[in-house]
Amino acid sequence: MYLNKHFSEVAESYLFSDIAHKVAAYQAAHPEADVIRLGIGDVTLPLAKPVIAALHKAVDEMGDKATFRGYGPEQGYDFLRQAIQKYYAGRGIDLQLEEIFISDGAKSDLGNLLDLFAVNNTILVPDPVYPVYVDDNVMAGRTVKYMSATAENNFLPMPEDAVDADIVYLCSPNNPTGAAYTTAQLEQWVKWAKEHNAVILYDAAYECFVSEPGCARSIYEVAGAKEVAVEVCSFSKIAGFTGTRCGYTIVPTAIEQDGMSLNKMWLRRQTTKFNGVPYIVQRGAEAVFTEEGMKEIQHNLDYYRNNAAVIAAALDEAGVWYCGGKNSPYVWMRCPAGMKSWDFFDWLLENAHVVGTPGSGFGPCGEGYFRLTAFGDADKTKEAAERLKKAIASLQ
Ligand code: MLT
Repeated sequence: MYLNKHFSEVAESYLFSDIAHKVAAYQAAHPEADVIRLGIGDVTLPLAKPVIAALHKAVDEMGDKATFRGYGPEQGYDFLRQAIQKYYAGRGIDLQLEEIFISDGAKSDLGNLLDLFAVNNTILVPDPVYPVYVDDNVMAGRTVKYMSATAENNFLPMPEDAVDADIVYLCSPNNPTGAAYTTAQLEQWVKWAKEHNAVILYDAAYECFVSEPGCARSIYEVAGAKEVAVEVCSFSKIAGFTGTRCGYTIVPTAIEQDGMSLNKMWLRRQTTKFNGVPYIVQRGAEAVFTEEGMKEIQHNLDYYRNNAAVIAAALDEAGVWYCGGKNSPYVWMRCPAGMKSWDFFDWLLENAHVVGTPGSGFGPCGEGYFRLTAFGDADKTKEAAERLKKAIASLQ
């Protein structure tokens, strides 16, 4: 056998596994420490009541011969695809049903989509960014180019004519920096993609957090984007499905090359390699889009937004520079006293028993920064913010 040698080119363990191991080791050595985790962007509020009711109902259906379901359509049940179609229509975006594919989450599809592209495609990613985009491509042996996202460009790199690439990843609102592109900025990306015969893989997992006018919630807000962009989204952040697993991917029928349709290729790929998301889960996801579902979910999003404001206020008081937290659940702070990201991680764990995510884990330009998630419990977030403030004050 011949192993995929490209696995030796990625870090031995995934960023969030690394953090989990470090925290577990610290906790084992200091069992008395009350560690507060604001590292991985995992939600803490339970599923909304309409979602729970829909899940229960679907479970009962599965226990009755008359309503039992076996294999479902690989691309998802029409009831959920129609609910998503309506969700986009409510924002003025017209999607065909066949363009909507239900998945078990954005992370899986971001990797799976690469089946559609040859190995010799050059990849362009912002730095820093969600590490999955880079790792997926390095594992497959593709060349990855980086565009710097820095405080100078508000962590929103724009296309450059001289930069050539075939597949570009955009994540907006951004993980980890919380920066969100405006529709006008995305127009430039769509134009660039058309001129460079490139495809945009647009990660909209955090679209529900957009609250500032002008910021885009979907790349399809840009006219003509359906000719060059695939959009990947998730129920994890909007509706707390991190443990329930459901997402969706929009593969427009307009993306074609050499007589091949990306949409048809994706359908072929999914029907061959995927047997769909459980019926029960899709019924739960459908309930997200009901009036009561949306109402409860907005309430939950406000809870997380408030956590972000609590973290931001503590950093303001501590005199630490940060951004994000407005259109995103992530607050992106500069490490105090010129510390490097992992040094600050260790220092904060030791001195405040607070866990965050080192910025350098998202790419070299993230060095010297640190990400805190607002997805935590409100009381614990307040306590963590207080500890953070005190610990930073002790440095002065
Ligand atoms: C994160 O913390 O960056 C996210 O939880 C990762 C993810 O959604 O997979």
